[in-house]
Amino acid sequence: SRVAVIVVAAGSGTRLGRDLPKALVPVAGEPMLVRAVRGVRRALPGAEIVAVLPAESEDLWRIGRELGGRPVATEPDADDGGSAAAVRDTAGHEAAGTGGVVLVAGGATRTASVRAGLDAIGPAADLVLVHDAARCLAPAAVFDAVVGALESGATAVIPALPVVDTVKTAVPAEDPRIAPEQVYDTPARSTLRAVQTPQGFVRSALAAAHRQAETWAGHRAEAVTDDAMLMELAGIPVHLVPGSLESLKITTEQDLRIAEAAVASAGE
Ligand code: CTP
Ligand code: MG
Repeated sequence: SRVAVIVVAAGSGTRLGRDLPKALVPVAGEPMLVRAVRGVRRALPGAEIVAVLPAESEDLWRIGRELGGRPVATEPDADDGGSAAAVRDTAGHEAAGTGGVVLVAGGATRTASVRAGLDAIGPAADLVLVHDAARCLAPAAVFDAVVGALESGATAVIPALPVVDTVKTAVPAEDPRIAPEQVYDTPARSTLRAVQTPQGFVRSALAAAHRQAETWAGHRAEAVTDDAMLMELAGIPVHLVPGSLESLKITTEQDLRIAEAAVASAGE
């Protein structure tokens, strides 16, 4: 089977607060996009890679081209508040098939960015992995486990770790200025998992789920925080494989320090 990997890197990095798109922020001297794409290439040589970038970041598009990336022509998608839908580009797919990268503009939400990536994948891939550029240190073993489970017949596979904290659900205060939130309940910790990327799917199933979700609006659309959720909502079993502490999502300055310590202790 042929694997395509969508690396979503079109977020703005608000919580990191650097005034730069997050994928451009260096981790021990190298932008997250560079580390993420290199991680995919090491883990899955020969996989087609689609990097989804912020439309307006000239620096990230330049870095994408330095990685061997070929921009895929895009046209505005009227239904999607200014995101871009890819237009098929044969030359771009040939580049991707030989270890290159296809570059495509993302959308206003992560879900829209994944959809833009899906639209840019060439015809040959039948398995798709979706990976956060912000998890740029994800190790090859996790990619291998995800692809292995798909090749053993799973339709949807996600890497996850057990949760160490006790987790509670909350009833939000009706008026946050006068009342504290209240605990609603405490799910059994043994049933909880913290979920990471790369998440892997049979391409046709993921594409169908995204086509369905494209019609959703408001709260329903906002509630979608990962791709596996779309499969769950479609009644498709989602298989769990072991994740890794190295796959942490760099969200805050603290996470960036942890990631840099991990790079240093790996002797890079
Ligand atoms: N992402 C994306 N397109 C968006 C939003 C997010 O491609 N419209 C990507 C990010 O680039 C990141 C991954 O989805 O690799 C996970 O998102 P997150 O960690 O939330 O990154 P940001 O949205 O950039 O950060 P923040 O929420 O702090 O702004
Ligand atoms: Mg975000």
